Amino acid sequence: MTRSVLIDRIGELVTNAPGAADAAESGPGGGLGAGDGPGRFAVINDAALVIEGDRIAWTGPSSRAPAADESVDAAGRAVLPGFVDSHAHLVFAGERSAEFAARMAGRGYAAGGIRSTVAATRAATDADLRAGLRRLAAEMLAQGTTTFECKSGYGLTVEDEARSVALAAEATGEVTYLGAHVVPAEFEGDAGAYVDLVCGPMLDACAPHARWVDVFCERGAFSVDEARAVLTAGRARGLIPRIHASQLGPGQGVLLAVELGAASADHCTFLTDADVAALASAAPSPDAAGTVATLLPGAEFGTRQPYPDARRLLDAGATVALASDCNPGSSYTSSMPFCIAVAVRDMHMTTSEAVWAATAGGALALRRSDVGYLAPGARADLVMLNAPSHTYLAYRPGVPLVHAVWQSGTRPPH
Ligand code: NIG
Ligand code: FE
Repeated sequence: MTRSVLIDRIGELVTNAPGAADAAESGPGGGLGAGDGPGRFAVINDAALVIEGDRIAWTGPSSRAPAADESVDAAGRAVLPGFVDSHAHLVFAGERSAEFAARMAGRGYAAGGIRSTVAATRAATDADLRAGLRRLAAEMLAQGTTTFECKSGYGLTVEDEARSVALAAEATGEVTYLGAHVVPAEFEGDAGAYVDLVCGPMLDACAPHARWVDVFCERGAFSVDEARAVLTAGRARGLIPRIHASQLGPGQGVLLAVELGAASADHCTFLTDADVAALASAAPSPDAAGTVATLLPGAEFGTRQPYPDARRLLDAGATVALASDCNPGSSYTSSMPFCIAVAVRDMHMTTSEAVWAATAGGALALRRSDVGYLAPGARADLVMLNAPSHTYLAYRPGVPLVHAVWQSGTRPPH
């Protein structure tokens, strides 16, 4: 029989439970009601929660907590859904700290820097790449991330992309084929031939290991027509599109995302009014999976660019997710608490909007109905903070506040 665990005396339980929000608790996630998957931002104060197996069995006030086989005293701490990091590039070798230092000394960021990581990744053994991926996944878990997406994109040959997605699939179910990250040096001046490879033999080799297809649609990477070709080819092989768009300047990538029904448009740093309106009209709802605007503050931090205008998106009605973009070039952080703190301080998100975006928002960006919230039936992925409320994630920036993590109902070994 499955053992049950009661976590009692929770100071603040962030549930994001479907249908839970009433007028007093209304918040981000507007438009989502009862049903599968997360709802609006919602909390229960002085709460308890029961885990049975890998699922949440019960949430409610501490005073009504049922008995369980085992119990844990939260002693007034806050408990949140585990963070859902819906954008990360974890299969790579080497590092680019010198490039970061040069940027902080005034140099700009360009898509071409990706090629130096491509060279290091091609030269690495499978064991080296696996070790790097496991190290970053462990780092994420220790900081409360219980679900993460992982892209290929530093191989850029059929063999190296295929091994990248295969390695990613060892670590997560959310694997993204990003053969169209940048045109590799050997295809310089012949982007068309490279796009043919990405849409043909490379896709054939990668599709069996991936759920998503992505493209870096930007000056210096791929044009909107090339991006459309890549995403359409991926979709024809059963992969769901997502896109890197408008990171370094305005472009057509966000409109393409909405046109193709992509799960997410990521970065969204330089948006036109038409982009914002399109993302608002494509926001996920009970009737449509929609397109989420995923903001990646680590990339703006690491490239010293202006932060995306989260307020403009939220006020227009778009659904916003926060993710780390963990990669060795633009954003070498695996920390969702860091992203939350920056989003609150510098992107003018409220603390509840930022926490919702890092949990429920990420779940919607990955079209997952089992994570990003804590209610009966949800996966028992949760974070207990050494703090009484979710606000502390931004109020105490840079402080390791994660006290304990449960993933699928168990506490992973440290
Ligand atoms: O999301 N924008 C494209 N890809 C990464 C950067 C990759 C790199 O610089 O190595 C990003 O920021
Ligand atoms: Fe990225």
